[in-house]
Amino acid sequence: MKLSDNKATLSFTDGSPAIELPIYQGTIGPDVIDIRKLYGQTGMFTYDPGFLSTAATASGITYIDGDKGELLYRGYPIEQLAVNCDYLDTCYLILNGDLPNVEQKKEFDTQVTRHTMVNEQMNFFLRGFRRDAHPMAVLTGLVGALSAFYHDSTDITNPQHRYISAIRLIAKMPTLVSMAYKYSRGEPTIFPKNDLSYTGNFLRMMFANPCEDYQVNEVVERALDRIFILHADHEQNASTSTVRLCGSSGTNPFAAIASGVACLWGPAHGGANEACLHMLEQIQANGGLATVGKFMEQVKDKNSGVRLMGFGHRVYKNYDPRAKLMQETCKEVLSALGLENDPLLKLAMALEKIALEDDYFVQRKLYPNVDFYSGIVQRAIGIPTSLFTGIFALARTTGWIAQWAEMIADPEYKIGRPRQLYTGETVRQVKR
Ligand code: CMC
Repeated sequence: MKLSDNKATLSFTDGSPAIELPIYQGTIGPDVIDIRKLYGQTGMFTYDPGFLSTAATASGITYIDGDKGELLYRGYPIEQLAVNCDYLDTCYLILNGDLPNVEQKKEFDTQVTRHTMVNEQMNFFLRGFRRDAHPMAVLTGLVGALSAFYHDSTDITNPQHRYISAIRLIAKMPTLVSMAYKYSRGEPTIFPKNDLSYTGNFLRMMFANPCEDYQVNEVVERALDRIFILHADHEQNASTSTVRLCGSSGTNPFAAIASGVACLWGPAHGGANEACLHMLEQIQANGGLATVGKFMEQVKDKNSGVRLMGFGHRVYKNYDPRAKLMQETCKEVLSALGLENDPLLKLAMALEKIALEDDYFVQRKLYPNVDFYSGIVQRAIGIPTSLFTGIFALARTTGWIAQWAEMIADPEYKIGRPRQLYTGETVRQVKR
């Protein structure tokens, strides 16, 4: 980051002296006012619940321009990565800063492929869960448990340890997600198979059984790979900020990523695609297309507490570029699987059409986000609704671990410790 010639002046109406605050510039995007010395100079904190105007870190990984609807990983537009690269190219890029050449790609793919198996003891740990446990509960536990198995890569001060734990996490997430799924069905887990692609291997671990051969469907493989690419990173969102805050205490990377999984579970974040599909199923059960208008009236009624899931975004106020790519994939998958007349897709299209023309949504700049279509694609592929957020976690692990590693390597890194505006009781005495 570069110090700007421009400076901010903060003045007060009570006669306290004004102070000057430095301004830093990034490569693109808004400048930031450096308030690190504010408390020392004024005795005041800034107040920004929800981080609406606060840059909590400098980062060189992902850039979003919410007004333009632009998403860049290491400078590359998401549209180009989605069309020209696979998920492991994207992982390499996010972790290392550049796309791999042919040799680097081969080596990276081999490294990831060779780390896909998990310690057999993990199966005993898995068996402690109820079969009907939510997969995100299982995943939070399994990812956290990795720290009990891979002690040889938890020295966070060692860059080699940081790298190998990143590879382990990226490699083992598909295995863990498929283990959670197979366990919920009472089916045996399927071992990884090294001659398949990352995504093909995941599909096989999810849907094969030990009694029959399994053929990976190429359209489905490409669609899921695209879902992984689109979800790989998204700058300082809630789960990534959680990973950074958790990791800032110096905890091991597996524990930090487990905190990200837990945060992602919520319906305002990674749980939105699951919530979106539940919403579509509910509308379908209540009368389908004929009731879409009534449902939209509820969405616009503030007292109803109903939101149009899969719509709106904290950062994208024009459109979510991932939603466009996902819509394209959605049509491709449904056509390849002969599901063009899927009633939930029809409902989704009808809702989208009304919303895009309705003043309520237009005025508030609410557009479909990536989750609006990704749920329909995953359902068509055969992924159960309860596992949607697990798929998101699998993909986002790359972003989490890259952001964590960037933080640990940053010379300015400190434990994260937000301050507060205290509004509770003033000092009082216990009287008994
Ligand atoms: N349906 C109806 N109204 C909405 C919606 C929606 N989906 N989203 C926002 N609004 C309204 C909201 O009621 C508010 O209206 P008003 O100004 O009259 O009070 C206005 O739009 C601004 O909303 P907000 O809650 O202040 O916006 P935010 O930036 O804090 O919230 C959001 C962003 C994603 C949490 C929200 O849009 C939402 O709850 N969407 C549905 C859940 C969803 O799809 N989440 C997935 C996000 S994308 C995946 C990811 O990147 O994690």
